[in-house]
Amino acid sequence: MSEAKQQPTVGAIDVTGTATGDSAAGKSGENAPGHDGDYYFDSYGHYGIHMEMLKDAHRTTSYRDAIMMNSYMFKDKIVMDVGCGTGILSMFAAKAGAKHVLAVECSSIAHQAREIIKENGFEDKITVLHGKLEELTLPNGIEKVDIIISEWMGYFLLYESMLNTVLIARDKFGADDVKLLPDSANMYATAITDPHYVQDRFEIWNNVHGLDFSYFKRLSYIEPLIDSVDKKQVMSSTATMFSFQLNSVKEEDLAFNSEFKLTATRDDTVHAICVHFDTPFCAGHDVVILDTAPWSTTTHWRQTVFYLINPIQMNKGEVMHCKLNSKPNPDNHRDLDVRLRVDFDGLMQVSHFDQDFRVR
Ligand SMILES: C[S@@+](CC[C@H](N)C(=O)[O-])C[C@H]1O[C@@H](n2cnc3c(N)ncnc32)[C@H](O)[C@@H]1O
Repeated sequence: MSEAKQQPTVGAIDVTGTATGDSAAGKSGENAPGHDGDYYFDSYGHYGIHMEMLKDAHRTTSYRDAIMMNSYMFKDKIVMDVGCGTGILSMFAAKAGAKHVLAVECSSIAHQAREIIKENGFEDKITVLHGKLEELTLPNGIEKVDIIISEWMGYFLLYESMLNTVLIARDKFGADDVKLLPDSANMYATAITDPHYVQDRFEIWNNVHGLDFSYFKRLSYIEPLIDSVDKKQVMSSTATMFSFQLNSVKEEDLAFNSEFKLTATRDDTVHAICVHFDTPFCAGHDVVILDTAPWSTTTHWRQTVFYLINPIQMNKGEVMHCKLNSKPNPDNHRDLDVRLRVDFDGLMQVSHFDQDFRVR
């Protein structure tokens, strides 16, 4: 990051010369804010992607409610918004009474965020710091932050690895009793049936004008599908696959192994394992839960669906044993390598297999 831009003095806080890299705006290449080698930040530079997120009502109102319903918690506090995008969460925090909000954003949307914040009259309360959180130094007058808010969740919760950035913010800038919003996360698995999709997207490759295209069938199984699952497709119990607290989790914990059981709730064929997540906001008196289950309000995360190479015929009450390993891909740390082990000994079928996936 290159030299910092001069910022005005805000209240008792002198924020002069602390925003990393802002003066690099407009440059390209290695020195530009957001250079990440994988064009990750470029994708957040246009307002179109932010419109999708802002329009996701359950997402945005969950954050709004978690902040506004617990406004007592924000009164006179220093808040950091990690990855502020358009500045929406920063403005909620300012409205809730925060003393000052540091809105950190690496992509060029930071410039527009600054304008929007100004047009909403919050320029004295919110400082947009354009740069990578990892390279940030706090403005003069701010030692630590009391609250960290961030919308870091990706598909399959952990895709994009933005949570790592929040953990760095927590460890570097958080006060000893820093509050995180959200403060925990849970991933869940359930078995679903989906014969039409399997026919349409996998079986079709077996015979293309009399030719064997099953090479593509094998490829298609590797990438899980991000889609809205109809709750009627759900045919098993729901298992908690992975849970963590944001105030204690470490980056290395996010490569996880999970063992879980799914019990069939009716006689049907399992075509896929559907994964969803929730993120409770429990830091204040009023708890809010952002939930992405198939039976909840649809969000832009929808669900992540892992189709099985061997569909499984289950009778009601039978149990499928699963093991799932998820870890960042060694070549692209934002992608996830997932290995699923299925063990099933049923009346109609016996199935034991491993299957590899890549979330990207
Ligand atoms: C999912 S968006 C959320 C935007 C906004 N907070 C909202 O709720 O609408 C995440 C934002 O974090 C930014 N971001 C991701 N990693 C970052 C990092 N390491 N440093 C600064 N910004 C980052 C992205 O550019 C993106 O704008």
